[in-house]
Amino acid sequence: MPFFEWKDLYSVGHAGVDAQHRQLIGYMNEFHAANAAGQPSGANRALNSLVAFTVKHFSEEEVLMQKQGYPEFANHKKQHENLLNLVQKLVGRYQEDPSDKSAVDLANFLKNWLVNHILGVDKKYTPFLAH
Ligand code: FEO
Repeated sequence: MPFFEWKDLYSVGHAGVDAQHRQLIGYMNEFHAANAAGQPSGANRALNSLVAFTVKHFSEEEVLMQKQGYPEFANHKKQHENLLNLVQKLVGRYQEDPSDKSAVDLANFLKNWLVNHILGVDKKYTPFLAH
């Protein structure tokens, strides 16, 4: 069983966004698996891909929200900025000290932030995408 499994509950009702969220989960699983296998270069590659893809995902999601005239766009965008800053900081800290403990902490943090963000923030725009 992978570290982080997609659940239908995470769907925001937009196939493109769901595919991007699944891709983020995929990079987190790659990071977790590389660590478990003692492959730091693979772990770093997965993290770099995760950060780059997060930038792309946030940007495309923001375009989508703007197109739909989503009223909470500014707040959502702010949350993206805060999250990206935090993820970049934690990834940088991990890459300086890739101990087992920091790897587990980072994997759990990444999983929690994505689940909390999808369920608590992204899902609020679902009704605006449907109409
Ligand atoms: Fe899917 Fe708001 O990030």
